[in-house]
Amino acid sequence: MPLLPCRRRRLLLLLLFLLAAACRGGDASGDTYDISMCRKEPTYCGEVSISYPFYLANETKDLDGYSNSFCGYPGLAIDCDDGKPTLQLNGTDKYVINNISYGSITSMSLVDQEVAQDNGVCPKVDHNVTFPPGSWLFFPGMSVDYLVFLLGCSFTNPLLPITCNLIGFPGQSYVIPKNQVPQGNWSRVCQRIFEVPVLNYQYVDPNSDAWRRGEYGNVLRQGFQLALNDSGRPTNCTQCEESKGRCGYSQDGVFLGCLCPNGRVSSLRCSSSDTGKSFVSRSILLGN
Ligand SMILES: *[C@@H]1O[C@H](CO)[C@@H](O)[C@H](O)[C@H]1NC(C)=O
Ligand SMILES: *[C@@H]1O[C@H](CO)[C@@H](O)[C@H](O)[C@H]1NC(C)=O
Ligand SMILES: *[C@@H]1O[C@H](CO)[C@@H](O)[C@H](O)[C@H]1NC(C)=O
Ligand SMILES: *[C@@H]1O[C@H](CO)[C@@H](O)[C@H](O)[C@H]1NC(C)=O
Ligand SMILES: *[C@@H]1O[C@H](CO)[C@@H](O)[C@H](O)[C@H]1NC(C)=O
Ligand SMILES: *[C@@H]1O[C@H](CO)[C@@H](O)[C@H](O)[C@H]1NC(C)=O
Ligand SMILES: *[C@@H]1O[C@H](CO)[C@@H](O)[C@H](O)[C@H]1NC(C)=O
Repeated sequence: MPLLPCRRRRLLLLLLFLLAAACRGGDASGDTYDISMCRKEPTYCGEVSISYPFYLANETKDLDGYSNSFCGYPGLAIDCDDGKPTLQLNGTDKYVINNISYGSITSMSLVDQEVAQDNGVCPKVDHNVTFPPGSWLFFPGMSVDYLVFLLGCSFTNPLLPITCNLIGFPGQSYVIPKNQVPQGNWSRVCQRIFEVPVLNYQYVDPNSDAWRRGEYGNVLRQGFQLALNDSGRPTNCTQCEESKGRCGYSQDGVFLGCLCPNGRVSSLRCSSSDTGKSFVSRSILLGN
């Protein structure tokens, strides 16, 4: 941190002292939070810009006695390892985020971490993409297609199996765009079935040599889109954001309060004195 000129530093200390005193003082709803948990500016992980309602998984804080609380929406914790942002869906499955686009609908582009890390020609997939119950994420309508992995199958059909050795199941394995999967009860004749969301792709021929030798990997590596469903917000969170606050949640995804720009926690909404218009909070921002 660059040294401030002595006079400014003293002024800053004085202001901090006054603020602390004001927080301890008479304000009836005087709860405060550690403002470092709500980043004002986007932070970057690699080239991906991370802003509210996403948050860094390592920057959770104690809020109102709840440890590991965060300033953001449940399910949007981002781990930043080696400049690669990853998101966990439904517990254990990790996805690398290629891109987040913020807007009236916030969406992101994800790739299965194993696929992203696999430099070979025949990337493997070993789970379906699932969301935890009540998740706010959804596949934005027009952009999703699926590749179906039929692994370890014992049947003959008009399609040719892939020549990649995927999981080591005995029998044949197939990777087929969902709309080209022949009718039938595949779970009866295949050991594993996975459906992997992918971006809309051009027509592919699953019988072509290139596809069967691993070209399907290019489609997988493009990843898929997920968007954020704002209707998942509880009323309190919506009201909070309308008042320029940010929603604070517990580790378990329970709305804890509205985190106002001046460091106050409100149960409902921020008042105009909370939103950075007062002299004290503006000075704090400058001193930061
Ligand atoms: C959290 O991780 C980010 C990215 O790796 C890093 O820049 C930041 O300093 C970390 N924060 C803490 C509190 O460790
Ligand atoms: C991220 O997505 C936006 C919108 O889809 C797009 O315009 C932008 O080029 C993408 N950026 C990267 C690095 O892929
Ligand atoms: C994943 O989500 C589904 C519901 O979409 C749920 O039934 C399943 O138990 C979840 N799995 C894990 C590991 O959380
Ligand atoms: C498909 O086969 C499985 C396993 O034999 C069976 O449990 C399931 O009911 C069948 N589904 C249909 C739609 O026939
Ligand atoms: C993956 O999803 C497909 C389609 O919903 C289902 O048939 C298959 O059983 C699922 N696979 C596993 C391992 O859950
Ligand atoms: C968005 O969330 C609302 C409320 O939870 C739900 O009714 C709606 O179906 C969701 N929309 C999508 C596209 O998932
Ligand atoms: C949510 O808002 C209601 C009033 O609309 C309030 O009674 C309740 O305490 C708020 N919940 C939390 C967790 O702050």
